[in-house]
Amino acid sequence: MSFELLNSALNALGEIVSTEPDVLDKHACDWSNVNRQRPLAVLRPRSVAEVSAALRACHAAGIAVVPQGGLTGLAGGATPQAGQVVLSLERLKGVEEIDRDSATMTVLAGTPLEMAQKAAADAGLYLALDIGSRGSCQIGGNIATNAGGNHVIRYGMARAQVLGLETVLADGTILSALTKVMKNNAGYDLNQLFIGSEGTLGIVTRAVLRLHARPRSKSTALIATTGFEAAVRVLRRLQAELGEVSGFEAMWPDFYRYVTNDPGTGARPLPDTHPFYALTEFQGSEPERDGARLEECLAAAIETGDALDAVIAQSEREARSSFWKIREGEPLDRLPYLINFDVSAPTAQLGALGERLKAALIARWPEGLFFVYGHIGDGNIHLSGWAGGTMEQIAHEMDEIVYGEVRRIGGSISAEHGIGTLKRDYLGHSRSPAEIEVMRRIKAALDPKGILNPGKVI
Ligand code: FAD
Ligand code: LAC
Ligand code: ZN
Repeated sequence: MSFELLNSALNALGEIVSTEPDVLDKHACDWSNVNRQRPLAVLRPRSVAEVSAALRACHAAGIAVVPQGGLTGLAGGATPQAGQVVLSLERLKGVEEIDRDSATMTVLAGTPLEMAQKAAADAGLYLALDIGSRGSCQIGGNIATNAGGNHVIRYGMARAQVLGLETVLADGTILSALTKVMKNNAGYDLNQLFIGSEGTLGIVTRAVLRLHARPRSKSTALIATTGFEAAVRVLRRLQAELGEVSGFEAMWPDFYRYVTNDPGTGARPLPDTHPFYALTEFQGSEPERDGARLEECLAAAIETGDALDAVIAQSEREARSSFWKIREGEPLDRLPYLINFDVSAPTAQLGALGERLKAALIARWPEGLFFVYGHIGDGNIHLSGWAGGTMEQIAHEMDEIVYGEVRRIGGSISAEHGIGTLKRDYLGHSRSPAEIEVMRRIKAALDPKGILNPGKVI
């Protein structure tokens, strides 16, 4: 594309275009911090009509557009490549409506997740989506990545929270399907196509989210168990005796030790000498009894020998600032770099998978640090690794080891963070050639010129 064509397309968009160096730098990379690249320009539309106009102009001029939300993505999906323009949703934010009777929220795509959660709570309702990056990530980004997070075990992923969607297609067409109903079998469910498509099929501009009744009580416990299998037995006991639990997170012992020995964590609710740790959250409807029911259930798990010790948070503040803070594992982010994996397999296989991956990585990099943790009740573990040298020197070989093992057991290379660019070469490990071919046909049908986030996913 010629410089003149680019300039005239961008000039026509007026003040939503920025080419200031500090703005370009801010939009050069997502959280994965790999392959930083300044975009040619950043477009920051203030309305859906401006998103549509921006795409129409870019489509006509053949300019590639990278949608960006809060830039907390971990797969390189929002990182521009050379010669591309960024379209940031940051100015398109706000909760437009909460419909109490329908239990829905209509929200603009650039709204930070935490802002949407607060708006739902203020209306006496509950938005079940919750992830560690809640302060920065946006609803549009959550939908585009089909985010998972802490409550999937009870409420499902982002997909399960979306009733209606408004998207802008590559040529600027506004596709409005802002339904508030759960049941709509009138033809293909087009909204589902865009959820998890990582900005390659359309730009999400608005969503109708499903809200739930606000839990009347919440109890959180940290549990030490004899190992992975025992943790799963504790989970199944909690589910059988309490009803559905709303969170169940695992921490392998070296993760717990590393995080709780960091001065920034400031808490170690259980000694760091146990073989395995789990964090559970139970949302109940009987505030006077729920804490005691959880305690009884954990006492029974100790009785059987599966649990070795357990501690229940005395307040929501303690649950957040101690238990969940440990699980969020901030000290890992202070390593010189961190290579993150988010793989899935049936829960029963995850213990052995975690051990095999750690053993293979330590055999290759004896001085490295490899942490396994994650949402085991959802069949998803994370592995975060540092192996000295630079990320560029290590990443490919680490990917080969991890994804090779995942392929061998028929798991998924991405449970929640998406493919972006970082896992693109491995898509065939988890998807058949026929599936990838259908993905290509869908992409070609919706974006024939290939201007929407090219080079991502497929
Ligand atoms: P971005 O990073 O800006 O973009 C992500 C992708 O979506 C890109 O491909 C981009 O092009 C596309 N995109 C963004 N907005 C739009 C839009 N409006 N329309 C179309 N495409 C768009 N993820 C989980 O699933 N579970 C977790 O538990 C979790 N925990 C995390 C904890 C931390 C501390 C961090 C840093 C990240 C975590 N993540 C987690 C990853 C990340 O927060 C999610 O993927 C999140 O949904 C990304 O949202 P975002 O707005 O930051 O999107
Ligand atoms: C988490 C992110 C990494 O679960 O997905 O902490
Ligand atoms: Zn996760």
